Amino acid sequence: MLYLSLLFLHFLGLALGVGTNLAMLTLGGAARELQPDERAKFMQRASALRKNGSFGLLLLILSGLGMLIVRGPMEVLRWGGGAFHAKLTLILILIGLFGYMQVLLKKVREAGGGGPLAAKLPKLSVALLLLNLSIMVCAVIAFK
Ligand code: HEM
Repeated sequence: MLYLSLLFLHFLGLALGVGTNLAMLTLGGAARELQPDERAKFMQRASALRKNGSFGLLLLILSGLGMLIVRGPMEVLRWGGGAFHAKLTLILILIGLFGYMQVLLKKVREAGGGGPLAAKLPKLSVALLLLNLSIMVCAVIAFK
């Protein structure tokens, strides 16, 4: 029951994390037609959604570690094999990139929402989405 609850939280984290990632890309696309200052204001407001994304990643990591502990790390490493090792490596890269994104967002906020740093955000969002999808592929292969 505990394990199933953790798995449920893992999927809730997945929905929040990847859902936010896709939503921000869609909102970024919708704002492309706006004037630069209007776009900056729109994206500043839409940024409220990012809290869901941070919460999703935290939930994924905590529930993932929870499942690892409940099942036993050695057992999970044997079960998941190379694909699980690949998943863990990609998760470390994801955490690094996510941290960089938070630093960038803070600088963009301090600059009033626009500027050259803001132009990096869409590319970074795409990179995070590709990483998320690759982690999901590794997870599905590891735990089939
Ligand atoms: C420290 C971080 C993480 C750990 C230790 C971890 C661990 C695990 C474990 C043990 C399972 C197997 C659950 C089961 O089927 O009984 C699992 C499943 C899964 N994880 Fe994670 N996870 C972590 C982070 C993530 C992240 C960041 C993502 C996505 C971006 C993710 C996506 C998935 C998916 C899609 C499954 C389901 C695979 C399937 O059942 O076929 N995990 N994870």
